[in-house]
Amino acid sequence: MAQLVEVRNDDGSFLKLKKYDDRYYIHRFVGNVKDHLAAIDVMNVREDDTFILSYPKSGTHWTFTLASMLRTGETIYRGSPTFLDFTDMETIDNLPSPRVFASHMTFDFMPKQVKEGKGKVVAIFRNLKDVMSSLYAFGKIMDHPDFLSRYQFTWKGLLELHMKGQIFCGFWFEYIQNWDNVRREHQGNNIMYLMYEDMIQDLRSHVQKLALFLGVSFGPGFLDKVTEKCTFRNMATEATKTFTQSDLWNELPKSKTIPIYRKGEVGDWKNYFTVAQNEHFDKVYNEKMKNSSFDFRFESW
Ligand code: A3P
Repeated sequence: MAQLVEVRNDDGSFLKLKKYDDRYYIHRFVGNVKDHLAAIDVMNVREDDTFILSYPKSGTHWTFTLASMLRTGETIYRGSPTFLDFTDMETIDNLPSPRVFASHMTFDFMPKQVKEGKGKVVAIFRNLKDVMSSLYAFGKIMDHPDFLSRYQFTWKGLLELHMKGQIFCGFWFEYIQNWDNVRREHQGNNIMYLMYEDMIQDLRSHVQKLALFLGVSFGPGFLDKVTEKCTFRNMATEATKTFTQSDLWNELPKSKTIPIYRKGEVGDWKNYFTVAQNEHFDKVYNEKMKNSSFDFRFESW
């Protein structure tokens, strides 16, 4: 059974999380964690289900929006995805097709049928320095008392808690290592790997590749329209209006808009890391990632 735990560091930064089987989960993960993980394992997957997998702040909403438009053939913004992590199985089972889910868990926590090749998985990755900066900024945008009673951190505090692995979805390096194993071992061809920085550089070609991967066929005009709808500028103005007081956002940010579309850049971390923090980070990063098959870019070009 999961326990509610509070992780703290010296400067008073804290996070309240669920802990189960030596892993941390976001507080809103369903129930005692154990039972929901078991239910996900045996979930009935449909051929046209799509699972967007990401570490928080890596472009989950962006990828969800692209996949939803391609799955439905409609260029409509649909707010936030249904997260497997935060949604009970009855609701999941009753959603109409095509279903596009998101999850902050890794592939090994996906339904057995997905691991056997059913449905499609789109995994999106982003460089850790920008992930941390985006997480920090997100924490500042959310100013509802419920939210503040669960997380409060300084920038330094967030970095420290992360380096101890005491953070929302666990240590990013372990998350990546886990994906390294999946890349090596998974036999099926139902996983697509996307890099946030590459998508920023050339969104149109990614829209095309994603359509191919999902097995949907549209003419260039529709793919152009999806690309245009999913630029950061358009999502920041238009998708922002799709804010609904859903379960996911029952803790409202002050702006009462979906608190996701902030800067959408590569390299914003330079506004947060001090020179010393960056040097320390690079040292840890180079050590932890030396055998990784992932190659992250930290700079825009
Ligand atoms: P920033 O806070 O750096 O701006 P998630 O959906 O996983 O929470 O990720 C949120 C991050 O993705 C935010 O990063 C957000 O701005 C960025 N993002 C969302 N839509 C985007 C888009 N169309 N283009 C580029 N970045 C986008």
